[in-house]
Order: sequence, then C-alpha cells, then structure tokens
Amino acid sequence: PAIATVIPAAGVGKRMKADKPKQYLPLCGLTVLEQTLHRLKQVPALQQFFLALSPDDPYFPELSVAADPQIQRVEGGAERANSVLNALLQIDAKAYPWVLVHDAARPVVRVSDIELLIDSCIEAGQGGILATPVRDTMKRASDTAEQTVEHTVDRTGLWHAYTPQLFPTALLRDALQQALAQAVAITDEASAMEWAGLPVLLVQGHADNIKITQAEDLALAAFYLEHSV
Ligand code: C5P
Repeated sequence: PAIATVIPAAGVGKRMKADKPKQYLPLCGLTVLEQTLHRLKQVPALQQFFLALSPDDPYFPELSVAADPQIQRVEGGAERANSVLNALLQIDAKAYPWVLVHDAARPVVRVSDIELLIDSCIEAGQGGILATPVRDTMKRASDTAEQTVEHTVDRTGLWHAYTPQLFPTALLRDALQQALAQAVAITDEASAMEWAGLPVLLVQGHADNIKITQAEDLALAAFYLEHSV
C-alpha cells in the first residue's frame, strides 16, 4: 500500500538558542532537514513528502531540495500536532492509505529501522511507532521547588517513543482532529491514537535516533550520521 510521509518542520527551536530554527542548522555539510530527507528518501516505499513549514519560513527556498517535485509544502501550525494535522488534511487517504510521520529534527534515523517499522505495521495491519525500552532508573520528582525525589518509578514496560510513527491515514487524521478539538495534550501521533482507543505497536528501533533539541546534540548527531546507516 502507498505511504505518504509527513515531516513536521515548522518549529522555532527555542531550546537551541541558535540564530535559526534547528532544522536549518548545519550537519555534516547539509542542513539537519536535508539530512533527514536524505535518510527518508533511501526507503523506496516513501515517494511523496508533505513538509510542514512555518508560513514565513525564509530558509527552505534556499535549499537544494526546494525544487524537489516529491516534496509538497504545507503550512505549519501553532504546535507540532497542528502542523501534522494541516499536512494530513492535504493527503488523499484513498491514494495513500498509510501515513508515516517523522520529525525534521531526527536526522539520524536508520533506514533499516524505518523499514522494520513499515514491515511490522503493514503485516500486523496496525499502526505503530519506533521505540526503545528505557535503560535508566526512572525517578518521579516531588513537586517542591527543591526537586527532590518522590519515588522511583518501576521502569518495567516503559519505552522511549521516537518517530517515525506509521498509521492508517484516515484513522490518524480523525483521531488527531478530535483530540485537538477537545484540547487533549498531544505530543506525538500515537497519543492521539491512544486517546481514540486505537492500537499502537511498539517496534524496537535504535536509541541513536536522537531528536536535535540542544546545541550539544549536533555533535552527537554528526557522529551517528557517519557511523550508522
Ligand atoms: O520542538 P520539538 O523538538 O518537539 O519539535 C519536533 C518537530 O516538530 C520538529 O521537527 C519541529 O520543527 C516540528 N514542529 C512543527 N510545528 C510546530 C512545532 C514543532 O512542525 N509548531
């Protein structure tokens, strides 16, 4: 079945404290966004890309990929979930029964992990996400200003959720639209599906699929880009 790809890239990257949004910072000779596109384009099943950009984004037209006919620009929204929904509303769910959503800010996702996610979900007939089991001991902070530990959380069954996330297009669009209309907190696509009572598979990927968030993440991403595939 055909898969459309949505790339939310309309964030401003406040935590980065850089002069431009993090998706446009340099990484191994290209921008973060171009490296992300480069990884996604190595997956033959992905042919059509919907890129959510801030309406007044001045950086994208400067990139070599700006004229790529496989990439369609859509207007981003106030939050990541709004950006993704705007893109989903542009996609013909009959032509593209599945949609893969991947953060522009995750440039080192392994091609083999993307393919594992696609194969696992399509074989199961269910949506799913790349994730890894939590390795560290997890603490819940007390809500005092001192930030002392309230207790240790049992990490059995806890996973880190990454992107890409792959879902049936119409189900995700409707779940996201309804969840946003009811002001449910949505930090990834899976949270909308969970809220709607729909299944989400956990597909084990690799922890090097980091999201560029702070300045120090760029050096690590550069290392991973050169050492993983
Ligand atoms: O800020 P955060 O790291 O959670 O952003 C994850 C991804 O969502 C980034 O690629 C960012 O550009 C995108 N985003 C978006 N629209 C927003 C906020 C973030 O497309 N309003």
